[in-house]
Amino acid sequence: MPGANSVTSNQETLHKDLEEVVRKYARTTFLRPIADHTREAFAQAEEFIRKFYEARNADPATGCGETSAIGRGAPETAPVAVILDSGCGTGESTIHIARRFPGIPVIGIDKSCARLNKAGNPSQTAGEDVPANAFWIRAELLDFWRLALDYVKAGKWTIPYHAVYYPNPWPKQSEATRRFHMHPIFPTLLALGETIELRTNWEIYAREFAEAARIVYDERAVAGMTIKCESFDPEKPETAFERKYKEARQKLWRAFIKT
Ligand SMILES: C[S@@+](CC[C@H](N)C(=O)[O-])C[C@H]1O[C@@H](n2cnc3c(N)ncnc32)[C@H](O)[C@@H]1O
Repeated sequence: MPGANSVTSNQETLHKDLEEVVRKYARTTFLRPIADHTREAFAQAEEFIRKFYEARNADPATGCGETSAIGRGAPETAPVAVILDSGCGTGESTIHIARRFPGIPVIGIDKSCARLNKAGNPSQTAGEDVPANAFWIRAELLDFWRLALDYVKAGKWTIPYHAVYYPNPWPKQSEATRRFHMHPIFPTLLALGETIELRTNWEIYAREFAEAARIVYDERAVAGMTIKCESFDPEKPETAFERKYKEARQKLWRAFIKT
């Protein structure tokens, strides 16, 4: 992990090309072939989710209560609730989120094997068991998100909360199109979750993310979204990076997108 230095950038405000790039990608579909290893990881996540609901016999549409959606007259194919923790790193946040939403499976996703190997170790759980609804997979987010969106569109999954905590900020202006919100994947990311929470130690990243969401919705003539961007001070850090930033007294930012 890099030290807890503040982000340094040759960019002092929102990227000058933000609007143009985001609008362009809002009109296109990201078509890069999906890697086999992420298809396999997706299948593992899907199996975990299925078994979780079978074991819990919970209401798969809300993740809570004992009443079956089918019993209430809902279609047999009612979507199951799934929470994503994208770029979970060492997986600490996955445990916090899983405790916050005990009735819903929480999938922590990261491409780093070294970081994922630390997921669920006793220092993260404070001696308690790993929550039964937490699961980690190694996968490429740009591929996982597209597979997940197929499930959302097919009415198989609903994603009430999607954590995107401290993604790599790519602060150099010349690398801006590697930021999730200036990448062709962004409309997919937006379409996935009912609530997306982005956390970052770079104010410009949070403001760009929120503005990019506004631009996509405007381009697609979608109304009624709530888009918020604010600084915050977490009482208890929920990720390894958050702890480092807090200890270094850096100001933290978050953007909320609610559909
Ligand atoms: C700055 S770290 C933050 C990790 C964790 N969220 C935290 O706050 O401690 C960003 C993480 O995103 C992961 N990541 C970045 N791009 C990714 C991608 N395209 N697919 C999967 N993981 C990715 C990296 O491996 C890394 O663990």
